[in-house]
Amino acid sequence: MKTFPTSAAWCFWILYISVSLKTTGSSEVVGSADPVVALAGDDVILPCSLKPSVNAEDMVVKWTRSHLKTENVHLYLDERDSNEEQFLSYKGRTSMFYEELKNGNVSLKLTRVTLSDSGSYKCFIPSLTTSQVKETTVQLFVGAVSQPVISIVGTKGWGVVLKCESGGWSPEPGMEWLDSAGTILPADGPPERHRDSEALYTLRRHVTVNKTDTNRFTCRVQQLEINHLRETEIHVPDDVFPKSQAGLIRRKQHIKEKKHRKELEERGDVPVCEQLQKNRVDLIQKVKVTTVIPIAFYLIRSTTYGEIWEARTSQIQMKRLYKALDISVEKKKSDFYRILLDLEPDLVIDPGKNLL
Ligand SMILES: *[C@@H]1O[C@H](CO)[C@@H](O)[C@H](O)[C@H]1NC(C)=O
Ligand SMILES: *[C@@H]1O[C@H](CO)[C@@H](O)[C@H](O)[C@H]1NC(C)=O
Repeated sequence: MKTFPTSAAWCFWILYISVSLKTTGSSEVVGSADPVVALAGDDVILPCSLKPSVNAEDMVVKWTRSHLKTENVHLYLDERDSNEEQFLSYKGRTSMFYEELKNGNVSLKLTRVTLSDSGSYKCFIPSLTTSQVKETTVQLFVGAVSQPVISIVGTKGWGVVLKCESGGWSPEPGMEWLDSAGTILPADGPPERHRDSEALYTLRRHVTVNKTDTNRFTCRVQQLEINHLRETEIHVPDDVFPKSQAGLIRRKQHIKEKKHRKELEERGDVPVCEQLQKNRVDLIQKVKVTTVIPIAFYLIRSTTYGEIWEARTSQIQMKRLYKALDISVEKKKSDFYRILLDLEPDLVIDPGKNLL
């Protein structure tokens, strides 16, 4: 037969192809381009697999860390875990997905990760031929977070000083104060930062808040690299804010006085002078000496001024000033009134209420 050797050669060639595909084929080791991000205490999977998928049950799989040259993170050899030379800190925390090996999935499970587990991990299959990709690197990023704590520190002006504190963060986070609408509030300076011996960060930040409709304020701590955020809200009771009633009354009174003054001015000079006479006794009693002297100087540049200046008390000064004004023209009386109104509005408008 002439065709037999040719058929046999074809047969062997096909067999060879299928065997080589089965054992090594063109599969390559594939990991993950994105880092694996976790929080301390979490369990993670470091992805690594053969693509196209091929049975890895009888392959050697070596997981290492670039800075741990001699010791393994995990070694799979002779169809079992072979961790005699495993780095101590990984003892009892690593495993493979044994059911997945036949699918070429050689991912590593790492339990209860710590901050020091952060770094790059190498997944290595030595049996692959040099023309294939035999290893890949997977990045692990372990962070730590904690809930912020808010406390009321005291008051400043009409505001309440709040403190936000959060420890045990890694990497270093940012801290902001927000109002109930989510707007960032101007804090009393940048956050105070402290890094402890375990490379964990504690942040502290103060804010002075004003009374709002809700009195609700939020402290937000955020770490963008590990994509974590922790918020705490506080409701500041109304009565914690300094009593602003005194201020309110003063403001109201001021508005009333202004209105009154405007009314008086609109009515003209005659009633203005009547007002001055009406309050005469009170004004003599209560006006401040610092007020009288400049007025007197302005109005009466005569010997009377000297007499006023020499008087021992402001009451006597005021009496003498009134006397001088009594014999003055109407214009001077209204000038006096206007000056007095500017200097001592409380006395002129409602003298009875301002006992000195
Ligand atoms: C490997 O197996 C693990 C566990 O079942 C699974 O989470 C992971 O997605 C698998 N990886 C691939 C590439 O299939
Ligand atoms: C509170 O009010 C004062 C002035 O009334 C202002 O300067 C300050 O920025 C306010 N504080 C906040 C957190 O909005």
